[in-house]
Amino acid sequence: MYQFNREEYQKRMQWYVEARFGLFLHWGLYAIPARGEWMRSFERMSLEDYQKYFDEFNPVDYDPKSWARMAKEAGMKYAVLTAKHHDGFCLFDSQYTDYKSTNTKCGRDLVREYTDAMRAEGLKVGLYYSLLDWHHEDYPHFSDGAHPMYQNPDYPDEGRNWDNYIEYLHNQVRELCTHYGKIDILWFDYSFGEYSGEKWGATKLVDMVRSLQPGVIIDNRLEVSGAGLGSLASGNPLPYHGDFVSPEQIIPQEGISDVNGEPLIWEACFTMNDSWGYNSKDKYFKPAPMLIRKLVECVSKGGNMLLNVGPDARGNFPEESVRILKEIGKWMGKNGEGIYGCGASRMPRPDFGRITQKGNKLYYHIFDNTIGPIPLMGIQKKEVKKIRLISTGAEVPIANNWVSNNYPEITFADLGQNPILPDEIDTVLEVELIDEKTAK
Ligand code: GLC
Repeated sequence: MYQFNREEYQKRMQWYVEARFGLFLHWGLYAIPARGEWMRSFERMSLEDYQKYFDEFNPVDYDPKSWARMAKEAGMKYAVLTAKHHDGFCLFDSQYTDYKSTNTKCGRDLVREYTDAMRAEGLKVGLYYSLLDWHHEDYPHFSDGAHPMYQNPDYPDEGRNWDNYIEYLHNQVRELCTHYGKIDILWFDYSFGEYSGEKWGATKLVDMVRSLQPGVIIDNRLEVSGAGLGSLASGNPLPYHGDFVSPEQIIPQEGISDVNGEPLIWEACFTMNDSWGYNSKDKYFKPAPMLIRKLVECVSKGGNMLLNVGPDARGNFPEESVRILKEIGKWMGKNGEGIYGCGASRMPRPDFGRITQKGNKLYYHIFDNTIGPIPLMGIQKKEVKKIRLISTGAEVPIANNWVSNNYPEITFADLGQNPILPDEIDTVLEVELIDEKTAK
């Protein structure tokens, strides 16, 4: 009988909940048609027609060191790269397939270069591995709604050997867990219908992964997809329970809790524009100020944010992504203290922004300036040790004038007369309390 060990779990999750911000990387052959990573499925393209991208693939500009630097400068603490996406193409030198980067013109093990580069920059290393596989002949074609050959009478499922595919999947995951040093996150994607849990041989798979990579953090998609929580939330964790919930393209309204109301660890992943894989026409990029506030929102609700970049066919980040990462990094460089190691606060959410908390420190993230001083609801003056603007370290006084004194029960921080906030995206006040108990 599987026994969930909370202490071990919390220990392995510690770096991850402190990190709060990571980079998702969707990259593969689909960068060439530049219509997103699902294009083969959406366009019902045959393997033969998709082959031209394999024949052509040669990302001459691929320099994961520069990717790692950009992530680090943006304030990200970890990255997750698609070692294999649904199209089945492997960015690593697997002995179990020919459908891999080392057999293309580029001839390189892209995963190895990535893992080395991320580690060298001090980032934690994550690998995404697709449970779906549109290349493997034993993976159902006709009956899987996502498969490019879905309901195509020329691709019946008879004679396809599921066990064979599962063996392939396990073998490849073993390779990823043995040949690339310490892997910090394994991000499986995804379960659906009856294709969930033991259908993937999940108990055996997770046992193997944990024995080869003690301490690795695994997402919950061996059980569910972007929808659904997984068995940790049910209070009855299965042997292959996910370590975190993985909401996709949404930030949960109130964080995520288990059946007993205990907060769960989660990571919201979303795209920077509207596509995971490179899409040359998709220019719907979320502005950096918005993404900064969304990161704050995730942390204020107890979650992580995994922000995606889809590099192009030459191996470059789209220009827009580079610009956005830089802008985020500029803010993070000054205000990261209000993000890293922080989590949800029990203080009521203020009108003007959000609150994150680390021990006896409350971080007031001010998105909109107030008229008059900033009200720190729920805090008494005598509980405050000090207030600082974290971007400069400047002392911020408690307001004491006829306007503020008109509300003697409220503690106000006095930001001065300028109606324009020092940081118009998010000005962060660190309110240090004498005693943590008031805040928690
Ligand atoms: C979905 C998509 C996929 C993407 C993933 C990221 O499950 O199938 O393309 O990799 O979400 O969360």
